[in-house]
Amino acid sequence: MPIVNRIADFHADMTAWRHDIHAHPETAFEEARTAGLVAGLLESFGIAVERGIAKTGVIGTLTGASPGGRAIALRADMDALHIHEKNGFAHRSQNDGRMHACGHDGHTAMLLGAARYLAETRNFAGTIHFIFQPAEENEGGARVMVEEGVLARHPVEAVYGMHNWPELPAGQFAIRPGPMMAAFDIFEITVSGRGAHAAMPHLGIDPIVAAAQIVAGLQTVASRNTHPLEGAVVSVTQIHGGDTWNVIPDNVVLRGTARAFVPAVHDAIEPAIRRIAEGAAASLGATARLHYERRYPPTVNSPDETEAAAAAAAALVGADNVKRDMLPSMGAEDFAWFLKEKPGAYIWIGNGASADPAMLHNPHYDFNDEILPLGASYWARLAETVLAK
Ligand code: NI
Repeated sequence: MPIVNRIADFHADMTAWRHDIHAHPETAFEEARTAGLVAGLLESFGIAVERGIAKTGVIGTLTGASPGGRAIALRADMDALHIHEKNGFAHRSQNDGRMHACGHDGHTAMLLGAARYLAETRNFAGTIHFIFQPAEENEGGARVMVEEGVLARHPVEAVYGMHNWPELPAGQFAIRPGPMMAAFDIFEITVSGRGAHAAMPHLGIDPIVAAAQIVAGLQTVASRNTHPLEGAVVSVTQIHGGDTWNVIPDNVVLRGTARAFVPAVHDAIEPAIRRIAEGAAASLGATARLHYERRYPPTVNSPDETEAAAAAAAALVGADNVKRDMLPSMGAEDFAWFLKEKPGAYIWIGNGASADPAMLHNPHYDFNDEILPLGASYWARLAETVLAK
C-alpha cells in the first residue's frame, strides 16, 4: 500500500497503541484511561493538549512551520460498545461486556500516528486541532463538545472525520458529497387497552392486537409517505407486553428507530408514526401514546471539502481506489454534529481483511492493523494539502 514512508516507521507503535486500547475498552464518557493514553502520547510528540472536554475528550493543537491564520480539525472517536467480545486473540477485551467492535481503537491510533508525523515535520501553514472525542455511540459526545464551545474556541474552517468500513476492501476509500450517513431517531409507543381473561376477550380491549396493527401500519411510513427515491427506514425493534398465557395485558410498549437523509423526509416520519399509531389504536378502542426523540442529524459532506478529502485519498491509493459512487449508509454518526457547525467531509476507509469480514458491532469484529499506516497517511496528506505552505 502506498503510504507516507515516515509513517510506515510508526506501524509497530500504532499497532501497539491500538491493541492496548482494544484490550481496555471504555464506553461513553468513561474513556478516562484511553484519554490519558492519548493525551500522554500527544504531549510526548510536543503537541499542546487540552483534557476533560465533554468529560473525557482530548484536543491536541499543533501549529505548522508557518503559522498562517488558517485552521482545520481532524477528529477520531475513542469509545467502545456494550458487547461481549468473542475473539480469543491476545489483545481481546479485558473489560467484560465492553468491546471495541466499531474500530474506534483503530481510529484513535491512526490519528495519533498522523499527529506524531505532523509534529515531526510541520510541513503545513496554519493550525491543526486533533479532536479525540468521547461517546460517539448513542450518547452524542460530539454534540456535547460543540455545546461546550470547542468550535467557538478553535475557529476552524473545516472539520474532517474518518470511519473504517469492513465491506470496503483494505486499500480503498469511499466518499461522496451530500449525505453519507442518516439521521437517527428513536421512538416508543405505549399502547393501552384494558386487560382481560384471555378466554373472554370481549370483556377487554386487547393492546396486543392493536400493537400488531400498529407494527404492520408502520411499514407504510417509508413505502407510502416518503418519496420513493429518498431513503427512509422505520424499524420496530422491541415489543414488550404480557406475562402469561391466559391474560390479555393492559399495555404493550413498542420501541424502534427511524432513519432519513433529507429534512423533508425526516420531518415527515414523526407525524406519520403518530397518525398510524393513534389511528390504528383508536380503531380498536385502544389508545397509543408516542414518545419521539431526534438523536443525531444526518452526516452531510460539503462539496469542496469532499473533493479535498478524495484528492488526499487518491494521492495515496489512486483515483480508482477512491469509490465515489457508494450508496450512503442508513447507519448514523455523531460527527454529524461537527458538520452541522462547519463545512467538512467524512470518509470511509476500507477495513476488509478477508472475503467475509465481521461487520461493525459484531462480537467477532476486529480493526485491521494493516490499514493503520494508510489511515494515518490520509490524515497527514489531507492536512498538508489543505494547509499547504
Ligand atoms: Ni463507529
